[in-house]
Amino acid sequence: MSENNIQSTLHEDRQFPPSPAFLKTASLSADKLADLYAAAEKDNIGFWANQARSEIDWQTPFTQTLDDSNAPFYRWFPDGKLNVSYNCLDRQLEKHADKTAIIFEGDAGDVAHITYRELHSRVCAFANALTAQGIAQGDRVIIYMPMIAEAVVAMQACARIGAIHSVVFGGFSASSLKDRIEDTRAKMVITADGGHRGGRVVELKATTDSALESGCKSIESVIVFKRTGHNISMQAGRDIWWQDAVEGQSHVCEPVWVDATHPLFLLYTSGSTGKPKGIQHSSGGYLLNAITTMRWVFDIQDTDVFWCTADVGWITGHSYVAYGPLATGATIVIFEGVPTYPDAGRFWEMCERHSVTIFYTAPTAIRALIKQGDDFPNKHDLSKLRLLGTVGEPINPEAWIWYHKVIGGERCPIVDTWWQTETGAHMIAPVPGATTTKPGSCTRALPGIDAAIVNQEGEEITTANEGGYLVIRQPWPSMLQTVWGDDQRYQDSYWPYFDGKYYLAGDSARRDEDGFFWIMGRIDDVLNVSGHRLGTMEIESALVANPLVAEAAIVGKPHDIKGESVFAYVVLKGERPTGGIDDELTQTLRAWVGEQIGAIAKPDEIRYADNLPKTRSGKIMRRLLRTIAKGEEITSDTSTLENESILPQLQGRT
Ligand code: PRX
Repeated sequence: MSENNIQSTLHEDRQFPPSPAFLKTASLSADKLADLYAAAEKDNIGFWANQARSEIDWQTPFTQTLDDSNAPFYRWFPDGKLNVSYNCLDRQLEKHADKTAIIFEGDAGDVAHITYRELHSRVCAFANALTAQGIAQGDRVIIYMPMIAEAVVAMQACARIGAIHSVVFGGFSASSLKDRIEDTRAKMVITADGGHRGGRVVELKATTDSALESGCKSIESVIVFKRTGHNISMQAGRDIWWQDAVEGQSHVCEPVWVDATHPLFLLYTSGSTGKPKGIQHSSGGYLLNAITTMRWVFDIQDTDVFWCTADVGWITGHSYVAYGPLATGATIVIFEGVPTYPDAGRFWEMCERHSVTIFYTAPTAIRALIKQGDDFPNKHDLSKLRLLGTVGEPINPEAWIWYHKVIGGERCPIVDTWWQTETGAHMIAPVPGATTTKPGSCTRALPGIDAAIVNQEGEEITTANEGGYLVIRQPWPSMLQTVWGDDQRYQDSYWPYFDGKYYLAGDSARRDEDGFFWIMGRIDDVLNVSGHRLGTMEIESALVANPLVAEAAIVGKPHDIKGESVFAYVVLKGERPTGGIDDELTQTLRAWVGEQIGAIAKPDEIRYADNLPKTRSGKIMRRLLRTIAKGEEITSDTSTLENESILPQLQGRT
């Protein structure tokens, strides 16, 4: 093994072929999948052209599939015209007008069913209201909403008139909101008086007001949906109630036909350094892969009830709540609340109540629910489920097995989907009726996606299980178009190799003997212990495999001799030891990791806490943990932490 490459330490041999129960109805068999791979292999661009012709209703068909004359600013279907909202709604009306599009459940348990006809009509009326407020094609609109059906209505309405939306997650602070408004130079904010989460009110309008107080000169109007009915202030001349804005508006609204390359949305994502990047997505290419992955990875069928638990503030809530499922005529569930309210059975109770067949969530949610015990899921009838999915971070094999057994009743395949805000749609993921899965692996790149592992020089690593950088070697339709207002940053961050030919994902990964991909973590997270580069995820996985451990995060701490030492933060299933120290347990866990992986990966220090610091999207804040491990003062912003009181625990002070 070359010294520079990343050493893999995780060994997982269990394999799960598609269950007979799933195969009975699966739409994509191994044979058909092989045909797709063969077609893409033969002619990648022609393959996507065919997919785009059959999956999208074009107002003006494209004659050119890919303009690559200005790489890495690739333009898919450049002379085609379409409307995304038309493809999601109007085209369902012929056959599915009375089918339920959205099953909405509020935090308090209020339920509403909205048909495609009704959704179409609400989107049209709201799109007309936007136009009446002076919004036109190309204008930016910020959406800062609770997770309610109107958030999707707002997104679809923007798409209908060619306005570019940028959804800001409702948990973000006034200053994050302000940064995004200013970077997009948006004309309007669509918000609500508030939302409900876990029995509490989230003050969306008050937060919007304080963001607008301190700048945001581009904002001309604010539309406010009345959700909670609690007291808020409305500024005359600027603020208008949603309900008043749609009053008297026609329920017919001709879609604005836009170029396939017209931006559909901007979505901000934070890198490990610098200010958030406004990831810009197209209309045609983005929609295409949102659709193809609904078919290939989620096997979406007419009778499915599809529940992706992500908030629309994240890319997952764009591709697999607001766009992909509607463009394929699916019934979706939208949930305003949190998984633990009124108790930790909420997800499972809702799966039963709404007869959910496909359930898609994040490993962090799964681990949190494992900690609550099996009684919660066991109380509910989960027999309608036929497919499970995960996204957002590597799922450790123990959590995978629990998901498979306790939630999936050993009959539901699990699709572990690797992708990013930047990729727009799944890139590496199982096809559930064809792929034999392995817990912890996102398996193979989808048809038409050319993923590979390279070393620091950009050369492909072909040796099995040798880790390196994950790259995509050919453009794909739902790729990001640029970083809003910063083409240079787009080029520098994502295309450092070979004059912009390879897309650098920023993750480290390896491929096993079968060519399956195993994501090892972000490149920034790789440790270098005595010259061995270790992925943090694998050590975390080993710790979580111990029956006493609920969650773990690993960071590197500078070490005179080894370069870096392994520093572990551990959340136990049981009580946290007093003072956060337990030498005996630490020895046990060190020995355990030694057995699982090898002495090199043994944590030098372990600190116990009730929780790990996470971003609002559930990602562990490793930079913060690194600072703490070094014993340095915390200078970064910790205001977005779910539970700030754990800081002294992480610092070993309580
Ligand atoms: O590190 C990978 C991890 O999440 C990153 C992308 O984060 P974001 O843009 O917020 O999008 C999350 C939803 C797509 C990736 O670079 N990641 C995402 N899915 C997986 C994953 N890591 C391992 N396995 C996955 N299935």
